[in-house]
Amino acid sequence: MAFSMSNKFPQEIVDQVRTTIDIVDVISDYVNLNKKGKEYFGLCPFHQEKTPSFSVNQEKQVYNCFGCGSGGNVFSFLMQLEGLSFFETLEKLADRISLKLPDSLLQNANFTRNDVDKISLEMYERVEKYFHHLLVNTEEGRVALNYLLNRGFSKESIENFRIGYAPKGNITNTYLKSCGYSTENLYEYGLVRKTEEGNYVDYFRDRIIFPIWNNTGQVIAFSGRALDDSKPKYLNSPDTKLFNKSKILYNFHKARQEIKRTGEVVLFEGFADVISAYDAGVKNGVATMGTSFTQEHLNLLSRDVRSFILCFDSDNAGTKAALATGKVLSSRNYNVKVCNLPDNLDPDEFIKKYGSDNFKNRLSNNSTLYISYVLEKYKHGKNLNNDANKKVFLDEAIKLILELSPHKDYPFYINSIIEQFKEQEDYIRKIFSKHNKTGANPTSINYKKNVTKGLTKYNKFENAERILLAYMFNDIDLIEKVKERIFDRFNDDKNKAILLLLYGYYEKERKSIEEFINNMVDEDLRLYAKEIKSLPIGEELNSDIFDQLENNILVHFQEYNIKKNRQEEIKQEYLNGNILKAAEMLQKSLIESRNSKFNK
Ligand code: UTP
Ligand code: MN
Repeated sequence: MAFSMSNKFPQEIVDQVRTTIDIVDVISDYVNLNKKGKEYFGLCPFHQEKTPSFSVNQEKQVYNCFGCGSGGNVFSFLMQLEGLSFFETLEKLADRISLKLPDSLLQNANFTRNDVDKISLEMYERVEKYFHHLLVNTEEGRVALNYLLNRGFSKESIENFRIGYAPKGNITNTYLKSCGYSTENLYEYGLVRKTEEGNYVDYFRDRIIFPIWNNTGQVIAFSGRALDDSKPKYLNSPDTKLFNKSKILYNFHKARQEIKRTGEVVLFEGFADVISAYDAGVKNGVATMGTSFTQEHLNLLSRDVRSFILCFDSDNAGTKAALATGKVLSSRNYNVKVCNLPDNLDPDEFIKKYGSDNFKNRLSNNSTLYISYVLEKYKHGKNLNNDANKKVFLDEAIKLILELSPHKDYPFYINSIIEQFKEQEDYIRKIFSKHNKTGANPTSINYKKNVTKGLTKYNKFENAERILLAYMFNDIDLIEKVKERIFDRFNDDKNKAILLLLYGYYEKERKSIEEFINNMVDEDLRLYAKEIKSLPIGEELNSDIFDQLENNILVHFQEYNIKKNRQEEIKQEYLNGNILKAAEMLQKSLIESRNSKFNK
């Protein structure tokens, strides 16, 4: 086994689990699998895709994805998908086949921790019920309830989001002690705090309580809003073993299904915004806990999301946050839009003032592409009718492209800008070189990248080409079929070179593939071909896999040509004097090309 940790776990047990479990059975819990030939196919759970390139081989008990390159056995599948440790995976799989793990194994630190978590989760569940009860049913909660109702929170939202009230004084502390929890418990999990005199008092006092859930919907913390102008407006639970602010998105567990369904998430700044939007029918909204959006937040979403809508406050802080968050997301290939709200309103206020329909309409029809948003902010008040201004604009636009688009996107964008602003070509090249710190060169760049990728994964069409070549090396008679169906429509130059050499070899001598590779004149190509030769592939290429590979290659090939045509159209618009129209088209096509790249 490849797991170095496994010496901690008796090999017999690991083996017993591995040989008893059926990988098809486990993966079927997550992926809709269809049997075709010897393999099962489905949509890859590790990346976004529309046609299945994920396959499971029952005989070998392994899975593989042609799209993103992930692969492994049942252990690595669960570890990767659920983020479990090896031990947790073993535990889960053992449980599945009703295999009792030996006690010695369960003395493991992991296990005791889980046990404590269970108690604290129960405690949180109890406190959540108690706060909610106080809000909706008691005299103590009446002021808070009225505050919420006056603000326009519906009764339904109050139930749905389990909003509560934390009373004045030390009542919570007393209540929880009477339930059997110790002061240490309460302190460790952030329900009481220590005063300067050393007394333990309620952490939340006289506040509206918003329960915070983890990703599986268990309450792990609270945020308490003051009923008046006292500071802080929102008080969050301190970080505990259960709760880490920077890993939590408010409402994620509720929104998840809709996020998955639509591939889109709406980011808000505040809880109130999420709740109002939810009430208005926008069910894919989440918010950070008043912090900026981090990589950890993105990790939660990245598997399900292609598009983000940033729906922040329209004040300075909100604009800043939208610019910063959009930048991070754009540079990672996500489709990002920004929803503009008028009159300095936040989303909650907008909904209360203009109603749900107006809000939904604005969100879906009036959100600006992120690049347009940025250029708009930048362009504000500038006049592009003279050369000097145009240069300043180009300068900034190129900086933005370099910042916001991944390396492989520059060529498309820069080339299009050059085409549009032909008379500024020298200037564009000059500032491109000035700002470009990645070493890309605008004269040599073209759509396909010539960069050695090191350890990074190949993208979908490159993988498909490589795998197809590997199969041809294995079975020379495949060449006929490839010739007929794909001919030379490979996207990657190296792959294409090998393909064409193979055609020549097939026509002529046909000795051995080893010799064919060794006869390659170009050393780089020879090494690359050897690498392909050693790719792990199955014995035979069945027609389903062939279709899949062919599809991956040709779809990309088509997209590339569509893009070339689109550039022609954009150029025409520009030549006809419609510069703004051309710019908007350019931005749109950039976003589209990102989306399509995301799907690889
Ligand atoms: P806002 O100040 O925009 O509040 O903070 P809001 O969402 O509009 O709330 P209402 O409508 O006044 O009730 C946005 C988010 O920033 C965090 C909270 O997560 C809040 O939802 N925040 C704000 C804090 O953590 N602490 C604070 O003191 C204020
Ligand atoms: Mn608000």
